Amino acid sequence: MHNHISLNQFISQENTKHSSIDYDLAGLLNQVAISCKRISNLVNRSGLMHILGAAGTENVQGEGQKKLDIISNNVMVKDLEWTGYLSGMVSEEVEEIISIPNQYSKGKYLLLFDPLDGSSNIDINVSVGTIFSVLHTPNGVTHPKDEHFLQPGTQQVCAGFCVYGPTTMLVLTIGHGVNGFTLDRDIGDFILTHPNMTVPEDTSEFAINMSNQRFWEAPVQRYIQECLQGKEGPRSKNFNMRWVASMVAEVYRILTRGGIFMYPRDQKDPSKPGRLRLMYEANPMSFIIEQAGGLSSTGYEPILAVKPTHIHQRVPVIIGSKNEVSQVISYHKGN
Ligand code: F6P
Repeated sequence: MHNHISLNQFISQENTKHSSIDYDLAGLLNQVAISCKRISNLVNRSGLMHILGAAGTENVQGEGQKKLDIISNNVMVKDLEWTGYLSGMVSEEVEEIISIPNQYSKGKYLLLFDPLDGSSNIDINVSVGTIFSVLHTPNGVTHPKDEHFLQPGTQQVCAGFCVYGPTTMLVLTIGHGVNGFTLDRDIGDFILTHPNMTVPEDTSEFAINMSNQRFWEAPVQRYIQECLQGKEGPRSKNFNMRWVASMVAEVYRILTRGGIFMYPRDQKDPSKPGRLRLMYEANPMSFIIEQAGGLSSTGYEPILAVKPTHIHQRVPVIIGSKNEVSQVISYHKGN
């Protein structure tokens, strides 16, 4: 008989070890896990349920929404608004703050999420996922406004993501390391299968969308050029390249075998300093990677130190194995 530790049991054990995890946070995380199970099921059955394809609408970023983007968003909102743990939510798919309806009590946490990251991959049956970040509601606030959400990543209480791949995996940090749980569909529970996930300090695998090369800034041009020169170049080793176009899958790979993932600042559209969103993509992923011993940066400053100015703002992302990210940061010095 295996001694399986469920997510619920793990959170309760962490609760006794660390006073930072209270009853409400435990309840919130379990409820987020329920949403992830529901979304996993929908992704799994999407073809059978005829919910693949475009919704014909755009999100606040002007990106075309998939039917499953909207459905996953609704799952999260409906599963979480009544719980009493939250005072408000921010979703990639909704322009304004999502308020808690009047009939429900307000809680001490704020939840920010991307309900279905990598959704360009849905129709081609490649991994997608849900990313989330938890912040404290500032003292005395019951109806949070934008300014109450605009806390730097260092203020995150907890962050996680669920990847809907060959297996459904939930990866979580509550500020004491990173742990990975596999969804056991037979019993409907997340089971701790990857305790204390760590990112190797060194790597020879990079992930970047090479089609943007002509728009990159000089430090990133130099870094990638040197990787491509391999053994014969200044890095004196060969590099491998991966690009899944799904951040959850890339970060999961880095947590498993190391690597560096970059969506850097570029000149493609000067009004956008990067592609990825700070509050519900870059911040939670940076918190997780740093808790696993990796590093994250915009190239110019730590992502977790960025002072947010807008709930949907974009940010350049360079994230992964410590020594490689440090190398890219060193190329940005003085740029
Ligand atoms: O919107 C976020 C995202 O889908 C990430 O998951 C992924 O890393 C990136 O965008 C893919 O971007 P592109 O389509 O430029 O490859």
